[in-house]
Amino acid sequence: MSTILDTGAADDLGVPAAQRRSAELERQIREQPGRFRALTGDRPTGRLHLGHYFGSLHNRVRLQNLGVDMMVLIADYQVLTDRDVADRLTEHVENLVVDYLAVGIDPDRATIFTHSAIPALNQLLLPFLSLVSVAELSRNPTVKDEIAHSRQSAVSGLMFTYPVHQAADILFCKARLVPVGQDQLPHLEIARTIARRFNKRYGIAASPVFPEPEALLSAAPLLLGTDGGKMSKSRGNSIALSATADETARLIRGAKTDADRHITYDPVARPEVSSLVLLAALCLGRDPHEVAGEIGGKGAAALKAVVTDAVNDYFAPIRARRAELARDRAHIRRVLRDGNERAAAVADATLTQVRAAMNSLY
Ligand code: TRP
Repeated sequence: MSTILDTGAADDLGVPAAQRRSAELERQIREQPGRFRALTGDRPTGRLHLGHYFGSLHNRVRLQNLGVDMMVLIADYQVLTDRDVADRLTEHVENLVVDYLAVGIDPDRATIFTHSAIPALNQLLLPFLSLVSVAELSRNPTVKDEIAHSRQSAVSGLMFTYPVHQAADILFCKARLVPVGQDQLPHLEIARTIARRFNKRYGIAASPVFPEPEALLSAAPLLLGTDGGKMSKSRGNSIALSATADETARLIRGAKTDADRHITYDPVARPEVSSLVLLAALCLGRDPHEVAGEIGGKGAAALKAVVTDAVNDYFAPIRARRAELARDRAHIRRVLRDGNERAAAVADATLTQVRAAMNSLY
């Protein structure tokens, strides 16, 4: 979503510190997974792609399987910030659920929900807005970056305030962990600030209403799109989870490489070639240097053949499951209804506590 992070700005966001903290959190999760609730989510803008899979979906399934209580949010209000997707929203939302289930998110253990269906979550936005200043909101680097890249002529009020709504996404269920990419760190900082300020203003010191959530940065390296840019649904450079084997082959055949015939793994000097090598290595569960070494002088065509086979083999079972799930829309809607019901109960309980703390429980 964001390009600020491709530059030196990562340090300013406290990325190294967040990475160290994430490593410590991972240790605690392995010891006592049941103590943690994690919340993360996606904007329903289209099909999820391989970058999402290796960057985040894979990690969610891992956390779920370790025993972490996973809340998976489909951010159907947040998506209204910068594009008009309203007419295809149902389709995008249902496709996300299909993608989730296909990759192994288990609705019996994880809660999949849409925030538009959770009134009490949305109500938290009001008190939360009172706890942040306009100046703080307009400093958010991820929002600034989105405004800079927005195709819309006017910046909506939601664009400035959605990070506060995102704080409600996280705090309504008192999630301790938020598995996200670096571009989400400014939003998480706002959620932490709101939790702290709410507790200070309304809480009784001994029993704060909200725990301060923490980012859990995934260790997964970044996959580039087929044009060498950031892989993104909107840039047409991604390989969707739902792509067929033939589409995958075609997309990889058209991927950008470079003039050096000898294949190596060198993400800094050769980002495009290295991203292809990395994709093969991730699918094969192997070291990218080794994969590159074996291809060596055989060149880019050989590399692309290896990548295509690796991706198609790895995703064949996921794609088969996906196709089957996509045929049963009633099941998909049931999963969402159940998730929404569970999330709504959690939100109601939190809102009751919030209203009590604010002396507005009449
Ligand atoms: N902002 C996230 C994105 O653009 C999606 C999102 C919405 C989210 N609410 C969230 C992520 C809460 C983590 C926690 O991808």
